Amino acid sequence: MARIIDGKAVSAAVKQNVSEEVASLKERGIAPGLAVIIVGEDSASKIYVRNKKRACEEVGIYSEEYALPEETTQTELIELIGKLNADEKISGILVQAPLPKHIDEMAVIEAILPVKDVDAFHPYNVGKIMIGDFDFLPCTPAGVMELISSTGERVDGKNCVVIGRSNIVGKPMAMLLLHANATVTICHSRTKNLAEICKTADILVSAVGRAGFVTGDMVKPDAIVIDVGMNRDEKGKLCGDVSFIEAEPKASFITPVPGGVGPMTIAMLMKNTVTAAKIQNA
Ligand code: GUN
Repeated sequence: MARIIDGKAVSAAVKQNVSEEVASLKERGIAPGLAVIIVGEDSASKIYVRNKKRACEEVGIYSEEYALPEETTQTELIELIGKLNADEKISGILVQAPLPKHIDEMAVIEAILPVKDVDAFHPYNVGKIMIGDFDFLPCTPAGVMELISSTGERVDGKNCVVIGRSNIVGKPMAMLLLHANATVTICHSRTKNLAEICKTADILVSAVGRAGFVTGDMVKPDAIVIDVGMNRDEKGKLCGDVSFIEAEPKASFITPVPGGVGPMTIAMLMKNTVTAAKIQNA
């Protein structure tokens, strides 16, 4: 029987720390602010943006939301980013992905000042993470590290397997585990013997985006299992990548979906916004 890693509780603790930091910054006349930009009508994105705004209110961060129509041009979007780059009220800028097809996502990310890039997606910040000398960490991998830390288990020397190689989760996740002195394997759609490799993992992180992808036979006894997946099952119910019913009896710790990694992403965004405000006022 695994212990369940409670993402809501861990994220509440992170947000509590952030609230206290926001209060002490405000005493020094510094008010962290976050601008969130959404382009188009993606319904999942709208929910994420609403949750981000709510989290800002909870911790006392000033926020601005820009909901732009689908037909917004790349030039218009980059012009808005330019204004926000120069706006002293705004410490962090987040452009919600995915963007409409006519907009080049990388060009947009590169328009954000690295010091305001609270997603840590700008190539400058990605490079800093690679080196291990960073100001911001991407929110989801950073949240996963907090969840692992909350188990009280050490990462040092552990075999970690990350399934998925996206720029947002898989790649930075592997790098953070490496910085914590783990031996890291990254698996992906072309990996041979995936199940065998997963079975060697003391810590298994799945970021695939397919319900039921990780089955019980892929889990090493007493492994820590972190499920980054956010999928719908055949009944339309929210679920992760991991077959919870099969993995839970074998794991030592496991994250549920919902209530695991999800709440951490926003908490880490709040933390990054405060970090941005501190750097800009140093
Ligand atoms: N869309 C899904 N996840 C994310 C994220 O972490 N940041 C941004 N900007 N867009 C997303």
